[in-house]
Amino acid sequence: MTNNIEGKVVVITGASSGLGEATARFLSAQGATVVLGARRADRIQSLAGELTGKGGKAIAVATDVTDYGQVKRLVDAAVQACGRIDVMINNAGLMPSSPLERLKIDDWNQMIDVNIKGVLYGIAAALPPMQQQKSGHIINVSSVAGHKVGPGSAVYAATKHAVLALSEGLRQEVKPYNIRTTVISPGAVATELPDSVTDPATAERIRKFYAEVAIPAASFARAVAFAITQPEEVDVNEILFRPTRQEL
Ligand SMILES: NC(=O)c1ccc[n+]([C@@H]2O[C@H](COP(=O)([O-])OP(=O)(O)OC[C@H]3O[C@@H](n4cnc5c(N)ncnc54)[C@H](OP(=O)(O)O)[C@@H]3O)[C@@H](O)[C@H]2O)c1
Repeated sequence: MTNNIEGKVVVITGASSGLGEATARFLSAQGATVVLGARRADRIQSLAGELTGKGGKAIAVATDVTDYGQVKRLVDAAVQACGRIDVMINNAGLMPSSPLERLKIDDWNQMIDVNIKGVLYGIAAALPPMQQQKSGHIINVSSVAGHKVGPGSAVYAATKHAVLALSEGLRQEVKPYNIRTTVISPGAVATELPDSVTDPATAERIRKFYAEVAIPAASFARAVAFAITQPEEVDVNEILFRPTRQEL
């Protein structure tokens, strides 16, 4: 392992677009085996085919992270195919933000199910094999919204604050197993995330904001690679980055 990425088995949820897809491409190009999970099976299958065609190793497993059984199946597929799991990236998430007074309860439930429970299920699926191996790396995706709350983003911010709390608790608990933990909090990055906003006024505001400041998804992939490529005794626990022009 020359770059500490080559040969690693990396499971990525939400690999069908945006940050997850960019990370899969970046890590695959550096010799990782990537195991891709998302609901849109056609997208992850075609990405796996593309990466394999370039000489990489990639597996696609249709996964809804709100179902623990499906997340376990994703991790099990990695362990069965490769004999181990080195990195679990709990990236799947959505952001249907709106002011609380709109009472978009379905959106609230979806954010809680995907952004919080999905991360927990990823931890639950990856922990047992990593504990057995006495090695591993769990990377959770929070947000600037995990550090700041603005009007219209209360529920999304709450889910991302939860990811920070879970990551810190996890960090402290997995020391005996030699498992590293990283939580990455991006600012505005150009992905399909704004498409998940269902409230028209909020969608318009967020689209305009992203059009003005968002940076490419490769910025996130490089942050992931930075954490993974550290020597095994170095545990990068938190990364917060924004577009240089982003104020909040
Ligand atoms: N882009 C940003 O500015 C930004 C900033 C801070 C944090 N983040 C976080 O980054 C993560 C990735 O988002 P993104 O920006 O890359 O947005 P994106 O392009 O919309 O990608 C979201 C990914 O999550 C997956 N996903 C959603 N619901 C899922 C479910 N129930 N089961 C499995 N996968 C599911 C989607 O796949 P399917 O629809 O195919 O299932 C997709 O691959 C999210 O956690 C987001 O909150 C993004």
